[in-house]
Amino acid sequence: TVSQVHAVEILDSRSRPTLAVTLETDAGQHVRAGVPAGASTGTREAVELRDHDPHRYSGQGVLQAVQSVNGEILDRLRGQTFDGPSDLDHALIELDGTENKSRLGANAIVGVSIAAARAFAETAGVPLWKHLSGEVAEPRMPVPHFNVINGGVHALNELDFQEFMIAPLGAPSIAEAVRAGSEIYGALRALLHGRGMSVGLGDEGGFAPEIAQPEEALDLLVEAIRTAGYTPGRDGVAIAMDPASSEFYHDGAYRVAGQDFTSDQMIDRYADIVERYPVWLLEDGLAESDWDGWQRLTERLGDTVELVGDDIFCTNPKIIAEAITKGVGNASLIKVNQIGTVTETLDAMRVARDGGYAQFVSHRSGETEDAFIADLTVGSGSGHLKSGAPARGERVAKYARLVEIEDVTDLPYGLR
Ligand code: PGA
Ligand code: ZN
Repeated sequence: TVSQVHAVEILDSRSRPTLAVTLETDAGQHVRAGVPAGASTGTREAVELRDHDPHRYSGQGVLQAVQSVNGEILDRLRGQTFDGPSDLDHALIELDGTENKSRLGANAIVGVSIAAARAFAETAGVPLWKHLSGEVAEPRMPVPHFNVINGGVHALNELDFQEFMIAPLGAPSIAEAVRAGSEIYGALRALLHGRGMSVGLGDEGGFAPEIAQPEEALDLLVEAIRTAGYTPGRDGVAIAMDPASSEFYHDGAYRVAGQDFTSDQMIDRYADIVERYPVWLLEDGLAESDWDGWQRLTERLGDTVELVGDDIFCTNPKIIAEAITKGVGNASLIKVNQIGTVTETLDAMRVARDGGYAQFVSHRSGETEDAFIADLTVGSGSGHLKSGAPARGERVAKYARLVEIEDVTDLPYGLR
């Protein structure tokens, strides 16, 4: 039985306001959740409520969302007993009453939903990952994807592609994968510094050097992987990219380093990249509105590369189902705040699984120290997650949680 729900406005890792939510029960549970926030958002994401008061935080305040929790949501939940997370999440969805959670705010709802999932796990007396297990696939430890070079809207450099990640697919365990991530991150820093390039960081803790072409970033990564003593490739440390291409797609053209490309020219470039570099995963290679291009990209590279839809799918079970029918991509990114409740997130993962699509669990560029996604990726058996660089508290919190889970379990590591 819920006895109290309360939210307060705090800062996220980008110094923008977000919510911290606490939830208490009659049984004495006191749980908390921090709400993440994106910068390169899909247009069909659940709606994050912002105050748009120019006199506070440049309009980014979340006092209305805080009021949703401390007012209507509290009134609805207090004194009520719920059978499980799905029961409570559906009460929130109904209370909001809109298709995209725009009335109470997805940021308000997701904070309560995550806190509630924790309370249910505590009630059951099991770790959160275990409480979430059995919903999608057998639990396992995921391959961490460390975002070590930042561009796009996450950095102020000229690099249009947003994320360049290293993925220790061949590591024996999470602990060793984290070690590889950190050692390669260190090697990359030395490499950049040695060349007189900036070692300043982007929003997700990766370096933001003064480069413009994606191939330059890939060259740097391959060299850093080797310098740190690892083997580039699927048996060692592979590379993943999230160009987040919706951000540089305008009037039917992709603008990369000042040059315009058609969808087919982008596909050619990706095919060339995949041939020359150990890139195993490509997220948002094409824009969220370019479904035809996505189909051709999937025909061309779908057998060899994991093609992840982020902005195009928005963790939305209906859109993922449509994509499966149309042969668009072969994997879905999974961000809890894109859809707004834990229950719908698990629905999205099941829809993806049933269609043969992989599920890639993800943080947002604006984060708190909340490590919910670590438990989600383990419990759902998604096999891989991205949570930014192997540095900075809000990123490392997730990797640390994974190491701690591994320490007390004997779950298998790696992709399914
Ligand atoms: P976002 O970026 O959190 O700013 O949306 C992450 C991503 O595009 O995957
Ligand atoms: Zn993305």
